[in-house]
Amino acid sequence: MKALVLSGGAGTRLRPFSYSMPKQLIPIANKPVLEHVVANIRDLGVREIGIIVGEWGPQIAAVLGDGSRLGCEITYIRQDQPLGLAHCVSLARDFLGDDDFVMYLGDNMLPQGITDIAHDFQANRPAAQVVVYKVADPRAFGVAELEPGGAVRRLVEKPPEFVSDLALIGVYFLTPAIHEAVAAIAPSARGELEITDAIQWLVARGDPVRASEYGGYWKDTGNVDDVLDCNRELLDGLIPAVDGELDDAELIGPVVVEAGARVVRSRIVGPAIIGAGTLVEDSYVGPATSIGRDCVLRATHIDHSIALDGAHIAEVKELHGSLIGRAATVGGASGTAAHRLVIGDHTRIVVAA
Ligand code: TTP
Repeated sequence: MKALVLSGGAGTRLRPFSYSMPKQLIPIANKPVLEHVVANIRDLGVREIGIIVGEWGPQIAAVLGDGSRLGCEITYIRQDQPLGLAHCVSLARDFLGDDDFVMYLGDNMLPQGITDIAHDFQANRPAAQVVVYKVADPRAFGVAELEPGGAVRRLVEKPPEFVSDLALIGVYFLTPAIHEAVAAIAPSARGELEITDAIQWLVARGDPVRASEYGGYWKDTGNVDDVLDCNRELLDGLIPAVDGELDDAELIGPVVVEAGARVVRSRIVGPAIIGAGTLVEDSYVGPATSIGRDCVLRATHIDHSIALDGAHIAEVKELHGSLIGRAATVGGASGTAAHRLVIGDHTRIVVAA
């Protein structure tokens, strides 16, 4: 079996980050989403991974390389425009050959893994096996209507009327039958070749298509709130480790202080990670917080947040639920009462009253 990871896309919901980086490289527990994805795929014993990339291909390749660091072989496949998930399958036709494959959306996190579902697919080998997850509001998803026993009766994209509360999430197990389906479907009303339509084409032809319900934690990290929620979830299992320097520091609960980091006259209440080379001075870092590499935190109070590499935060008393970009500066100005903002397009700032 091979894997196809989709890491193109527009990423409009994650602006302004997606103006300067691919959303699939946003760190969760200080590791890019894509590295979590590749680790999950490698746990299935799959080594050959094709990654669909758009304009951020070089940034992604700079992080993942040829895959050898992660124990796999990566082939990059360029998609010039995000024309849909099924379009990605057609672009990867040569890479996939006649092999079965798992298609995995590069912004989806399933930390409990998908090995059971992969075994089920390999044992029964239906034409396609989708992964479903019970959601409160299915109108925003492709949904699956099932027969008792897990066979798919029908797939419907974003149904206005209730069909089922089992949403298709970002992992699909597919056989080469999908290539015929992708070639047969037309673009949807939004102009994309939809994988839901391609799999529904197989169902309509009478091919066996099955669904497996994923019972673990699942997040599509496509917007800021979901990125922060996922970070909190992953930090919950944090194993404490201090490789950096502590100087008059108080650590409570699971805390990781990476090599070269320094915590000075500060209190850290885990789960929290302080990245390599970062300085935390006269500050409080609270639970569910990941601070990247080479950041500086001075006289600051931060919790439930992520700071990306190189961020500088000084004299900010209450930062909560924040996502702070690479090399961004957030600073209090002693002696002035006014806020001064230099912020990019589509940035969201909430100023405390
Ligand atoms: P989405 O999150 O559905 O789409 P998007 O990236 O355009 O995001 P937004 O809605 O915020 O604009 O895509 C799911 C995953 O699939 C994501 O990792 C991007 C990837 N993708 C491609 O690689 N090619 C495509 O043509 C599309 C539509 C998505």
